[in-house]
Amino acid sequence: MLNFSLTRPERGIDHQIYLLNQAEDAQNLDLSDQELEYIKSELKPGSFVSLSRKPALSVASMPEANDYKGWEKARLLATKVAGINKGISLEIIADASEKAMAFAEGLALASYKFNKYFTKKEDDSLQSILLSGSFGEAHLQELNAVVQATFLARNLVNEPLSYLTAKRLGKEATKAGEKFGFKVEVLNKKKIESLKMGGLLAVNRGSIDPPSFSILEYKGEGATNEKPIVLVGKGVVYDTGGLSLKPTPNSMDSMKSDMGGAAAVIGAISAAAANKLPIHVIGLVPATDNRPGLNAYVPGDVVKMFDGSTVEVLNTDAEGRMLLADALAYAKNYKPDLVVDLATLTGAAAIAIGKYGVVAMGTAEEEDFHKLQVSGNTAYERIARFPFWEEYDDLLKSTIADQKNIGGREAGAITAGKFLEKFTDYPWIHIDIAGPAFLNAADHYRSQGGTGVGVRLMYNFLKSKV
Ligand code: BES
Ligand code: MN
Ligand code: ZN
Repeated sequence: MLNFSLTRPERGIDHQIYLLNQAEDAQNLDLSDQELEYIKSELKPGSFVSLSRKPALSVASMPEANDYKGWEKARLLATKVAGINKGISLEIIADASEKAMAFAEGLALASYKFNKYFTKKEDDSLQSILLSGSFGEAHLQELNAVVQATFLARNLVNEPLSYLTAKRLGKEATKAGEKFGFKVEVLNKKKIESLKMGGLLAVNRGSIDPPSFSILEYKGEGATNEKPIVLVGKGVVYDTGGLSLKPTPNSMDSMKSDMGGAAAVIGAISAAAANKLPIHVIGLVPATDNRPGLNAYVPGDVVKMFDGSTVEVLNTDAEGRMLLADALAYAKNYKPDLVVDLATLTGAAAIAIGKYGVVAMGTAEEEDFHKLQVSGNTAYERIARFPFWEEYDDLLKSTIADQKNIGGREAGAITAGKFLEKFTDYPWIHIDIAGPAFLNAADHYRSQGGTGVGVRLMYNFLKSKV
């Protein structure tokens, strides 16, 4: 596991990288005239040059802009440097600016590999990153926590159903709680039945594996919020579509990632706890796989939900909203200040904006949407706010029950949100992460597979709320 450190590793450094604010600053480095000339002629803002030395030495010039766009450019630059530095120990020498932090973060995130299932593991990932210059203990701690929490979320998404069942997801949340310092209670099927979580149980009916409902709680010392913030994550450990079966191969191949929202919630609370944020957060993770087993729920079924309302199921592939609805209704028990749910909820969200951001909508105060937007820019997990007009409700009218679970082809991401809204009575934000949760090919520092999207976004957001 990669770690940032402020102390020199025993086995020494293989590659030093100087981060300069401008090429002229190279004058202050210990370089030959020839090297200095080379750097001055070659080094453009947002690029790097490598000198042939042992240990290797690279000089990178930070992008000019000192805003979130510049920070992202710094991450991308780091990705390029990481590309030529496999299996080694790096030293970053810089002043601890936001750009330098972003560079270090990008380098670490780019080094991620999910190699658990290879029988012969090639260890060509980065070993360690030494931060020299003005980085302090606090910077180091925060970077390590955020990177580790993102890796945790990526690991969870990358785990196939053959390992990560709903029950196991509860165990993994418990493990994260022990490691990072928060409480976890996992409700089993019997308990879920006694609570009458009809939405979660309906989806689970086609499965032979039991559902789970995990409750995470982190209350930092000196928590500033009286009422908790609740994060809800969709934990569909595999989505076949149920009887409304998805066509295979294409649309089912990556459906182990349908618990990306759950991974984001577990990761964000891990990061908050590791960094001891003075905040009170609850995480709720309803989990099951969605399968067309013998007793599976069928299109046309009417389901009585946890809150007592009824839903006509017209497509068993719209399963995420069934279990999120129960979790959102359960969240009322906490009299929350704010609830944010994260879910790989609709293909429509992915079609609308692609992998370039996440879709958000809801009923929270504008101030919270603004904080979310700023947090999203900082993490470069940007927010595309969708409308939430009441007319969309008409699309969910059922002839037999309080609501139907699909709204038709138009505005699919929004009608999913509108369905969920009925189960809330508090300020609420719904985030659909279907676009970026899982990538078929690496995108710079976001590796192929699970991206951990939502972890850095929600960590920044929680930080902005303290
Ligand atoms: N998990 C899917 C959404 C999804 C699709 C996530 C592609 C990531 C990539 C969700 O459960 C689903 O199947 N949604 C349906 C809803 C429809 C039946 C109303 C969809 O988007 O097609
Ligand atoms: Mn589905
Ligand atoms: Zn799904």
